[in-house]
Amino acid sequence: MNHVLITGGAGFIGSNFIHRLIELRPDLLIINLDLLTYAGNKDNLKSVEDNSQYQFIHGDIADQPLVESILEKYQIDTVVNFAAESHVDRSICGPIQFLNTNVVGTGILLEAVRKFWSSKNTTGFRFHHISTDEVFGSLNPGEPPFNEASQYSPNSPYSASKAASDHLVRAYHHTYGIPITISNCTNNYGPYQFPEKLIPLIIMNCLRGKSLPVYGDGQQIRDWLYVEDHCDAILQILEHGKVGETYLIGGENQPSNLEIIHQITGLLDELLPDSPYSPHSSLIKFVQDRPGHDRRYAMEISRIQNELGWSPKHNLASGLRATVEWYLSHQDWVNALVEKESFSTWINNNYSNRGGN
Ligand code: NAD
Ligand code: TYD
Repeated sequence: MNHVLITGGAGFIGSNFIHRLIELRPDLLIINLDLLTYAGNKDNLKSVEDNSQYQFIHGDIADQPLVESILEKYQIDTVVNFAAESHVDRSICGPIQFLNTNVVGTGILLEAVRKFWSSKNTTGFRFHHISTDEVFGSLNPGEPPFNEASQYSPNSPYSASKAASDHLVRAYHHTYGIPITISNCTNNYGPYQFPEKLIPLIIMNCLRGKSLPVYGDGQQIRDWLYVEDHCDAILQILEHGKVGETYLIGGENQPSNLEIIHQITGLLDELLPDSPYSPHSSLIKFVQDRPGHDRRYAMEISRIQNELGWSPKHNLASGLRATVEWYLSHQDWVNALVEKESFSTWINNNYSNRGGN
């Protein structure tokens, strides 16, 4: 791995991955192709924008001539595809953009890669696709966790579009021989996560004295992974993973949404003893559930542990504390996003008709 193309690198996980690569692999050339949708933010990479190792290109993974020219110009040997529409609630309000980016976009990116890769006849090339546990659908309490052989059973337009993109990546390996790997990861949290997702939304609303919207009964279960651990897992797969293989990644925890929210409000009570909104748990408000809401996700991560020696380094308590502290010390970053009209439009669309106590 010498010349890496990261797609969607201005988003949450992609920007964390770029910071991690620059820290751990100072000899790499990193090209970041990002469309800068509402979720893309160049500020996430401000501290590295003058680094000679790093270059940003504003553009779309669905622009095949552009992608081909990047692959050729920089003689890319590794592509890591983070670019996607990523928020389930937005996929319920407007699914088509999810099909355009996650399915058609990934397909066009693969076509550009196929053309480049087959003309070079190079060895050592890798296309790594970032995916999610949500492609496997929902587990009931007590059911065993998903593993690499679990059937795909996506339930939301988001997870269906991610499932389709996984299938395309697999098919390009099977049919054309493109050297691919895929990783399916559980819910991430940590620095630079856009404040539409549960954890940053709860922190942000606590700081503003706004209600904390809990969908349904709040007993839905996610497995949570600190984003730095996800980045380290991806790096292991790129450097040591087997071509054609899928790896599941997770944090091996099973809190309910309500437990997560109570942990965050408890941390804020401790860190902000003079807050007028303390105890922050008094802001909790049960609201109408998400349609088709998956009840539980859980991952069996023994393959990546045994074959690649990766395990999460952060547990939920240490990861949540680091995350809350990061948001407290980066309120300008949050404010700049929240002040945009598009953000308040989204909050109105998603929450104004949900009711609640
Ligand atoms: P994000 O929404 O924060 O970032 C997505 C990035 O992709 C943004 O920078 C956006 O501008 C860019 N983008 C969107 N469409 C594009 C296009 N057509 N061309 C180029 N760039 C485009 O998402 P995230 O949370 O960082 O997720 C990154 C990837 O990881 C996604 O593929 C997602 O499905 C997957 N994933 C996310 C989680 C999670 O908990 N966030 C968990 C597992 C897997
Ligand atoms: P989210 O962060 O959107 O991730 P995902 O849907 O991909 O798991 O949501 C995490 C969980 O939190 C999910 O069960 C939905 C729930 N949730 C709420 O209860 N309230 C909210 O306002 C949001 C955004 C999510």
